[in-house]
Amino acid sequence: MRPGTRKRLIEAALDARECAVAPYSRFQVGAALLTAKGEVVTGANVESASYGLTCCAERVALFKALTQGAKSFVAIAIVARLPKGPTPCGACRQLLAEYAPKATVWVADSARPGVVRTFRVASLLPDAFRKVPRR
Ligand code: THU
Repeated sequence: MRPGTRKRLIEAALDARECAVAPYSRFQVGAALLTAKGEVVTGANVESASYGLTCCAERVALFKALTQGAKSFVAIAIVARLPKGPTPCGACRQLLAEYAPKATVWVADSARPGVVRTFRVASLLPDAFRKVPRR
């Protein structure tokens, strides 16, 4: 990965976070996905009055990217106002394991975006369920 990629992705996630639609929790999350072609696709959480319909920032970014034709992902940055940054929920881990299994995951507190923790999708959800076994 090029130097500066991590910073660029965190900054894109911070911008995306500004567009979170979180009137119920008021917890705004931003995500930015880097595709293998070098494109950055962002997302933010969207909540519903029927709380269970809420969609996380990570999934919004992933669904946007997949439905724009992206097939392979290098990294995802996720930011929220949370000490140490927001690690993805279980549902998002499952989807990331299916569609972005090789991705690096960067998380940061939006108030301290220079402090970034790094994970790999595969280690956030070891032995993820797959309908079709990977060859
Ligand atoms: N949320 C995300 O967008 N990503 C996460 O990784 C964890 C939680 C959202 C869902 C909901 O809108 C709000 O944060 C509070 O849970």
